[in-house]
Amino acid sequence: MSGKKATLTIDGQSIDLPVSSGTMGPDVIDVKDVLAKGYFTYDPGFMATAACESKITFIDGDKGILLHRGYPIDQLAEKSDYLETCYLLLNGELPTADQKAAFVHKISQHTMVHEQLTFFYRGFRRDAHPMAIMCGVVGALSAFYHDNLDINNPEHRQIAAIRLIAKIPTIAAMSYKYSAGQPFVYPDNKLGYAANFLKMMFAVPAEEYVVNPVLARAMDRIFILHADHEQNASTSTVRLTGSTGANPYACIAAGIAALWGPAHGGANEAVLKMLDEIGSVENLDKFLAKAKDKNDPFKLMGFGHRVYKNFDPRAKVMKQTCDEVLAALGINDPQLELAMRLEEAARNDPYFVERKLYPNVDFYSGIILKAIGIPTSMFTVIFALARTVGWISHWLEMHSGPYKIGRPRQLYTGPTQRDLVPLDKR
Ligand code: SDX
Repeated sequence: MSGKKATLTIDGQSIDLPVSSGTMGPDVIDVKDVLAKGYFTYDPGFMATAACESKITFIDGDKGILLHRGYPIDQLAEKSDYLETCYLLLNGELPTADQKAAFVHKISQHTMVHEQLTFFYRGFRRDAHPMAIMCGVVGALSAFYHDNLDINNPEHRQIAAIRLIAKIPTIAAMSYKYSAGQPFVYPDNKLGYAANFLKMMFAVPAEEYVVNPVLARAMDRIFILHADHEQNASTSTVRLTGSTGANPYACIAAGIAALWGPAHGGANEAVLKMLDEIGSVENLDKFLAKAKDKNDPFKLMGFGHRVYKNFDPRAKVMKQTCDEVLAALGINDPQLELAMRLEEAARNDPYFVERKLYPNVDFYSGIILKAIGIPTSMFTVIFALARTVGWISHWLEMHSGPYKIGRPRQLYTGPTQRDLVPLDKR
């Protein structure tokens, strides 16, 4: 509480509303007292609503700043790795060498899934979208852990977090293998987190698979860049689901479902489809016109952001990684050239400049994922894999103190009360 207050005057009556300050970012006006005066606040899309207090991630959209527990995303991407970032998000501090070793070992002890879980995959058609499989299989995990689903038990909450972070790469790789008609590959605990995922994705029994360290490092960095992002739509879904007391596996499955939308985590897959549709530089003007046409549903996928009105700091690191990976692999991807020309054209177009629409995390990620060999249908699965730590960190944070069930109200504009006319008289 800052001691500051805001005064709202309606129909001659004043309501004093307390104002709270965080360590960074805008002050917040606590509006719950308007209810006692017979009012709701109204904020569709939560454009100006702080739904909770959190210490995990801070975003300054105007300055293009993203901090995880105070550390800038570019420093984490450059100087740490994904499991270190997971430890930081979960615990609030970067691990010491001993703490990291213990955490990595703990994760490695939970990378396998129950053998019965493999039967869930067989219920899907081989051409099922892997995100559909992820929603189903992750939600089903709760059926395997009846002995520790007491969300009021801190130890149960912690083991659920470890299990989800450890198993989500295995489940994700299995969703790809199933669609490819290839046998599932068990985790190899001798490998690092990202390398293990690549082996589970691409190894086949018929030959030895050696992980390319350049691709493993790029994959790990992509995981870091997608790990958490404050109260985005899927994280808010996890918190809202968690506020009902639902088990953590159900909450993460809800987050996966929310992430799937093309306006959110589905954008990386949509960017590649958009670049395919644009086809060549000659068509850029036509598609930019479509993106600006209010009567045309087409949007520039990978552009714009609810919070960032500046460059998404993750997009900068993603573009650097893109250049490194393509150079290391000797790939000259025409889609990268097209993406760069599209970015340049949009950055010089008043429509995009006035609306502060910049490339976001999804704009370049698909090009790297394609270079690594990840099929387009798996792009959002990669996002969900990496974001699992963010979702579960917010779920843990919510359960670490008092919380209330989330239950928004509405502005009702439907019919006023009326009496029913019996069918034979209508
Ligand atoms: C992610 O929230 C998070 O943190 C999400 C995320 C995370 O890490 O969790 O960062 C991940 O979801 C990134 C965003 C991925 N989505 C896309 O790339 C899809 C394309 N982007 C748009 O759909 C849009 O920009 C959103 C959904 C991302 C943001 O939408 P907002 O905040 O509701 O903004 P808006 O739609 O009100 O846009 C403001 C104006 C509108 O025009 P006007 O009404 O002012 O004339 O900008 C226009 C929009 O039409 N606009 C676009 C556009 N994005 C916004 N016009 C063309 N192309 C676009 N991409």
